[in-house]
Amino acid sequence: MVQLWQTLLLPSLLFNIISAVPALLPSSPAIRTIYEFPNETWIENIAVRSNGNLLLNILSSPDLYELSPLNPTPGSAKLLHTFPFATGLAGIAEIESDVFAVVVGNWSVETFTTTPGSWSVWKVDFNHLWDNLPQVSKIADVTKASFLNGMTLLAPGSPYLLIADSVLGVVWRLNYLTSEYEIILESPLMQPAVSPIVLGINGIHIFNSSAYFTNSFKGFFARVPITLDGPNAGSATGVYEIVANNGVGDDFAFDREGNAYIAQDPSDGLQLVSPEGKVTLLAGNTNSTIVEGDTADAFGRTKLDENILYVVTNGGIAGRVAGTQITGGKVIAVDVKELL
Ligand SMILES: *[C@@H]1O[C@H](CO)[C@@H](O)[C@H](O)[C@H]1NC(C)=O
Ligand SMILES: *[C@@H]1O[C@H](CO)[C@@H](O)[C@H](O)[C@H]1NC(C)=O
Ligand SMILES: *[C@@H]1O[C@H](CO)[C@@H](O)[C@H](O)[C@H]1NC(C)=O
Ligand SMILES: *[C@@H]1O[C@H](CO)[C@@H](O)[C@H](O)[C@H]1NC(C)=O
Repeated sequence: MVQLWQTLLLPSLLFNIISAVPALLPSSPAIRTIYEFPNETWIENIAVRSNGNLLLNILSSPDLYELSPLNPTPGSAKLLHTFPFATGLAGIAEIESDVFAVVVGNWSVETFTTTPGSWSVWKVDFNHLWDNLPQVSKIADVTKASFLNGMTLLAPGSPYLLIADSVLGVVWRLNYLTSEYEIILESPLMQPAVSPIVLGINGIHIFNSSAYFTNSFKGFFARVPITLDGPNAGSATGVYEIVANNGVGDDFAFDREGNAYIAQDPSDGLQLVSPEGKVTLLAGNTNSTIVEGDTADAFGRTKLDENILYVVTNGGIAGRVAGTQITGGKVIAVDVKELL
């Protein structure tokens, strides 16, 4: 049988078959780099289309890429759009079926500072293709914001996006249908620490009618119950509370049970925080390159990869492990069930 395989399959074909099912073969490791961008590319965020393709927001250039995780051959990430008059992309959220909102603005990966007033939110619509590319249009210039970062839709069918402002330490509510925006949540728990850099609330996602958020350098994961409907949709209905003092946290994703998988840029770990606040380090730490520079993550959406957490990185531009070189931002497939 071995000889038959060898005769029938050219090595390159066999390679394609193997690389077409990353992290799914019994022998494949639980943590696999499936794609790497050119050196010094900072991937800041990720969303997954219903067809399984990954959308990758670059922060070191104003570019949105798409990658098929089932066949991520070198160079196969497709540039979908370069946004004008901006230096990079931050949060991303699906607002309608196969329509995504993307945060665009100026944050320097050299000085680690924002340009207040430079931030806008755009719509990327895969239901209306032009030349095989999604139609892109601006939703709003959020000129009063200082640094728009993580973003989530308030609830399925809602017109509201909640967007973390990491420098002002507030959450903006943007109506993507009318382009109106205002501050909807504010708390000392969202305020930035002043060092090492001014960066407070970072990732934000909704679970069980609460808004959960990381505070980067105050080093905790917190939540507040909110109302999902009506004119006050998005506003607090209870107290702000710390879920876990878990250290540095960037963006994160929930599983169906409400466990949060937190990317720990710049401290290079991947954590699981349970709804009760129990913290488990799944991978990495400040001395490990396994998920070095991890900024955000998202679960696969097809039967083949629904247990795979796709983690994206900045290649160590921030959080570089001592004694290593900066690399290109990576997409890492993590089989979380294998790590528990
Ligand atoms: C943001 O950066 C872009 C590209 O360098 C520049 O064209 C634009 O003027 C900047 N925006 C602001 C508000 O400074
Ligand atoms: C959802 O919130 C309710 C009310 O706060 C709480 O009793 C319940 O335990 C929460 N469920 C989960 C899965 O966290
Ligand atoms: C990283 O390495 C340093 C130096 O060896 C050590 O002091 C520190 O405890 C290590 N940290 C972790 C999280 O392993
Ligand atoms: C990537 O670029 C940085 C900065 O120029 C450099 O220090 C590093 O060696 C490069 N990495 C690789 C793998 O070439």
